Formats: sequence, structure tokens, C-alpha cells
Amino acid sequence: MTSQIYHASSTAPVNIATLKYWGKRDKTLNLPTNSSISVTLAQEDLRTLTTAAAGPDFKEDTLWLNGEPHSIDNPRTKNCLADLRAYRKELESGDSSLPPLSEWKLHLVSENNFPTAAGLASSAAGFAALVSAIAKLYQLPQSASELSKIARKGSGSACRSLFGGYVAWEMGLKEDGSDSKAVEVAPKSHWPDIKACILVVSDDKKDVPSTSGMQLTVATSELFAERIGTVVPKRFKEMSEAIKKRDFAAFAEMTMKDSNSFHAVCLDSYPPIFYLNDTSKRIIKLIHVLNETEGEIIAAYTFDAGPNAVIYYQEKDEAKVLGLLQYAFAKVPGWKNTGYQISAKFPAEIIGEDWYKGVSRIIQTQVGDGPLDTEECLIDTATGLPK
Ligand code: DP6
Repeated sequence: MTSQIYHASSTAPVNIATLKYWGKRDKTLNLPTNSSISVTLAQEDLRTLTTAAAGPDFKEDTLWLNGEPHSIDNPRTKNCLADLRAYRKELESGDSSLPPLSEWKLHLVSENNFPTAAGLASSAAGFAALVSAIAKLYQLPQSASELSKIARKGSGSACRSLFGGYVAWEMGLKEDGSDSKAVEVAPKSHWPDIKACILVVSDDKKDVPSTSGMQLTVATSELFAERIGTVVPKRFKEMSEAIKKRDFAAFAEMTMKDSNSFHAVCLDSYPPIFYLNDTSKRIIKLIHVLNETEGEIIAAYTFDAGPNAVIYYQEKDEAKVLGLLQYAFAKVPGWKNTGYQISAKFPAEIIGEDWYKGVSRIIQTQVGDGPLDTEECLIDTATGLPK
């Protein structure tokens, strides 16, 4: 292939919700039944890198994911590509000197810097990186919030990965989804010392995928109406304020309560959905005992649609939190030996010797940046194929 190939690359982060998105009011557009809030995690530890290329000789839109060709023939990805092409077309119709990239097929190459086996949902980072790389290739002037609406159509939670720091996804009210977008609550620099420890919990069982799980909850849970009508709207305001005030105790308490509320509506679905396993429940207990022992809330757990725990804490409390986790889970792969000791006050005897076996990997990370441009390129610009 010798004709000109245009290309651009971006990276995008993983985000973990502290106020959960669970429920859709429109399945095709991924419009949620409630607003949500998340923390963006550092890309040094968890990110997707995507190179997007367009060329006049490309035969079809193609995606390679972690080295393997991957189908692009699904409505979610197609919706994203159609929106991005429509914006590019607008630019081209106003400036005839621009190459007609909107008419050319795309080659997309994507890689995660963390093993898929880590069991972490990567669709949020994946769609955010895809949208960011194509937007850069097309030189689109749209803001991160505008682009977040496109990523949202790929996977709801992906819209929040268009920003760094502390992010809200405003559910919006319009039927066409034009007001359902991510916005910044506060940048990373506002509260840079939030750390996250991800405990990847071993589990053989296949979870109910989040998309079908939330549909079941919407259709069958009576508790759900209370969650979206009363609990979440109040918590959304209070959590945004806690972030603005850097009030960790309030932020952490709401984070734990909201994780529990989300898992409660899962259990209230019919048939019930169980995402937490015994290891998850031990971790919940452990964090509560830690906070009680310290006499203040210094750590928060949260769980998505699976048994993995994410523990948020502040850097100033690192010795206390990691001292405890080191005692319980130091034998787990990925643990960075901290040298911290478990507090003498903590009733260490409650921790079972074999608990660490329930955790298959640990990732210690922190709050991070939104999508970044990069010169790294995953496509051979001579052939238009992955390097
Ligand atoms: C529990 O964004 O994966 O992680 O929109 O169907 O792709 P789709 O769902 P997805 O759901 C994420 C659910 C969650 C909570 C959250 O991230 O807010």
C-alpha cells in the first residue's frame, strides 16, 4: 500500500465509579437512569493506547485489539464511528483543502498496558481511546464533553474516561441524549493525593454482563425506584460537594454506601444477581474494622459488576491502609512491598492466613489524567497494518 496514510494516536484511562451508573432509559444511546461520579485512574498503571489511521485504499473498517483482529460489526462501535465521521464531514464541507478522511475506511489498533487476565473491565478506556484517537486524526474541534457523548454510545461508563481527576456523568433528560455527557467535577490537581488499590479477586464464575444485568434490575427491582428517585440524586450533590471540599470522610462513606446500594438492587433483581463473593465480603469487613480501629474513615471500598475491590484512600494514610493490606495480601502477585506494618491497634487475628488466595493480583495506583495525545504509533504507516 503506497498511497498516503493519515494517522494519530491517543491514550485513555480507566475510571472507577464512586457513585454507580446502573440502569438505562435508552439502550441504543446508552442513556442512564441516574447521574454518576467517578475517579479517573493513572495511566502509568492502566490505560488503552489506540492508533487510528485512514487511507484511500483501506477496504473496510478494521480493529485490532491486543494483537488480535476484532469485529467492528456491532451497533455500539458503528454508532461511534458514524458520529465522528459526521463531525469530520462538517469540517470537510467548510474547507475543500482538507483530505476526505470521512469517506475513507479506518484501521484501528488498540493495546492495553495491563493484562486482560487481570479481570478489569477495559471497555471504558477502550472506547475513550478510540474516540480520542479518531477525533485527533480528524482534527475535530469538539470539546471533551461533546466527545464524551460519542464514547457513551460505545459503553456508558466510557464517557467518564474523557476527563481526568473527578468526573460526573450528567444523565440528561432529553430523548436524543444531547444533554447526557461527562463533565469535570474537579481536576486531578485539585485533589492529587487520592490513591487506589485494586484487589483483583479470583473468580471462575461468569458474571452477568453489566449491560444485561442493569436491564434486569430496571425491569424487576422494586428497590431500584427508590435508588434512582431519591438516594442517588441526593448523593450526587453531596458527593460533588465532598470532592470540591476534599472531605475524604464524607466522600468515602458515600462511596461505600453507594457500592452497597448498587449491589443491593442487584440482589433485589429477579432472579437475583450476585457480583460479590466471599473474598469481596471479607474485604468489606476489613475496611470497616480498619475505619473503626482508627476512629475515622480513612479508606473506602467500591465494587463494580464483579468481585474485584477498589480501595480508595489518601496518601497521608498510606502507611495505615497499606500496612493492613500488606499483612493480609503481601503474597499476591503485583504487590509492591511497602515495608509498612499493620497497626498494633488492629485486631490482626481476624485476618485468615489463606485470605490472600482469594486475590489473584494487586494494582496500586492513584488518581490520574484524562486522554493524552502520544507520538507512539501502533500502525506501520507503509502498510496500514499493525506493527
Ligand atoms: C457497575 O458502562 O459497562 O461499572 O453502558 O452497557 O456498556 P454499558 O455498561 P458499563 O456499566 C458500568 C457499570 C458499573 C458502574 C459504573 O461504572 O458506573
